[in-house]
Amino acid sequence: MKYVVRTESLLKVVGDVLVLPCFSSTPSIRETLQEVDAAFQGKLLVHLERHAFKAHKGEWLMVPTFDVLKTQFLLVVGLGEKSLCDLDTVRFVAAITAQRSREVKAREVVTCLPLLTGKEVAPRLIAEAWVTGFGSASYQFHRYKSAKKETEKSDKAVVGVERVTLCESTRLRATAIQRGCDAANHVVEALCLARDLVNTPPGDMTPQDLLKAAQLVAKDQSRIELKLLTVEDMRKLGMDGTLAVARGSQHEAVGVHLTYHPKTKPKKRIAVIGKAVTFDSGGLSLKPADAMMTMKCDMAGAAAVIGLFQALPTSQVNVEVHGIFLAVENMPSGSAYRPGDVVKAMNGTTIEVLNTDAEGRVTLADALSYAATLKPDAMIDLATLTGACVVALGDDLSALMTNNPRLGGQLLRAAREMGEGLWELPLLGSYEDLIKSKVADIKNIGGRSAGAITAGLFLQHFVEKIPWAHLDIAGPAFVERETRPDHPYGGSGTGVRLLLRFLQEL
Ligand code: BES
Ligand code: MN
Ligand code: ZN
Repeated sequence: MKYVVRTESLLKVVGDVLVLPCFSSTPSIRETLQEVDAAFQGKLLVHLERHAFKAHKGEWLMVPTFDVLKTQFLLVVGLGEKSLCDLDTVRFVAAITAQRSREVKAREVVTCLPLLTGKEVAPRLIAEAWVTGFGSASYQFHRYKSAKKETEKSDKAVVGVERVTLCESTRLRATAIQRGCDAANHVVEALCLARDLVNTPPGDMTPQDLLKAAQLVAKDQSRIELKLLTVEDMRKLGMDGTLAVARGSQHEAVGVHLTYHPKTKPKKRIAVIGKAVTFDSGGLSLKPADAMMTMKCDMAGAAAVIGLFQALPTSQVNVEVHGIFLAVENMPSGSAYRPGDVVKAMNGTTIEVLNTDAEGRVTLADALSYAATLKPDAMIDLATLTGACVVALGDDLSALMTNNPRLGGQLLRAAREMGEGLWELPLLGSYEDLIKSKVADIKNIGGRSAGAITAGLFLQHFVEKIPWAHLDIAGPAFVERETRPDHPYGGSGTGVRLLLRFLQEL
């Protein structure tokens, strides 16, 4: 997608849809639309009145222009009350704009940003929010759609919007807006990469494929280093748990350690660890068919890490970032690990496996142990770890668990700013009993109650004393029910924007 800022009048730019955002209060709809209404000889306002258009937040009306304007359609969208309009609203309204534009098969959209004057929100930030909402909502995953007929090939719904022209009369503001657009566009591209990785069918997204995706991001980026951990390396490091999980699959485990070196001397060193189960059948503790249908999303943590690294070189992050994932596929077979097996994690802790479907924590035990050896200032893991988390918090919230309230506060703030749902759950010490094992140090399941927390407590055994936060993204990682315009069906890319903001603010 191309975003171009022009200092011209909106009405002079040729395109498919002209989008005019309106507040429901002052300036009134009448004032905002005056000039365009004149082109329609006063019929536009009559039309809007007839439809009782009040410019409530997200309300919209698409009007054919019959060539009175330089676009085929005019889209009027409501921003709601001006005093309540914030960056979240801008993101939301931009997403609605993208949806509606796609509906009329538009390729070129012309619009202007709602300036939140009086609130002192910098134009650059408004541009970022707008592009984030628009770009995020424009995402489509059609790699597996065959376009047999020529007519289908040229279907604009598949092509989508290619160019957005943002008009801004003040040159100074226009420059700031262009900067905001470019920065946000890079982030959206990273977000969409993470979504693509999650959406790719599990047969085409094996541990090897996930490695390739990471290699592609590291390629030509002198500031990103990639260290591959082969099965042999993992064996030497003592990552027995990870190798045990992978044993049921035809696909070997693959470990990846990415390092981002910022331009200037880094202020901090942070490790980001992603769960990377390319498909989770449950293993011998096989999942029911329905529960397996979306389990290609079980590498969403690693996808977020890869997406983050794609965005790092063009971001304002002055931190040495380590991205780590151990990719495996969890399958049942004659060689699969069994309920009852005991495995030893890299840090020496022994784990009694009582359910092979609680595989994520077994692989993360090694990934966290490995990350801890790097002695980072903090480490953050992202994992589609438990169904219990979805039961507790639903699809719109990830859970945060942490041994460090300051780190937790920083992550909660970054999530709030980026519109990602995040809610803290306590790592309650008294629940440690639930994961005590009779034969090993700990067991990999804690029973029915507090499933998200016992998984978090399990992970805590592998972080030494390092400030650590665990994000259980099982709910938001994969969108099955489309409830928000900027969250289309499938992988959501959750975590990418949150992590980036967190790192920017360090
Ligand atoms: N990958 C799943 C968790 C999951 C569930 C992610 C739903 C996304 C949506 C995880 O490996 C798993 O199977 N967890 C088990 C743990 C249980 C056996 C203790 C679960 O939540 O049922
Ligand atoms: Mn599982
Ligand atoms: Zn899993």
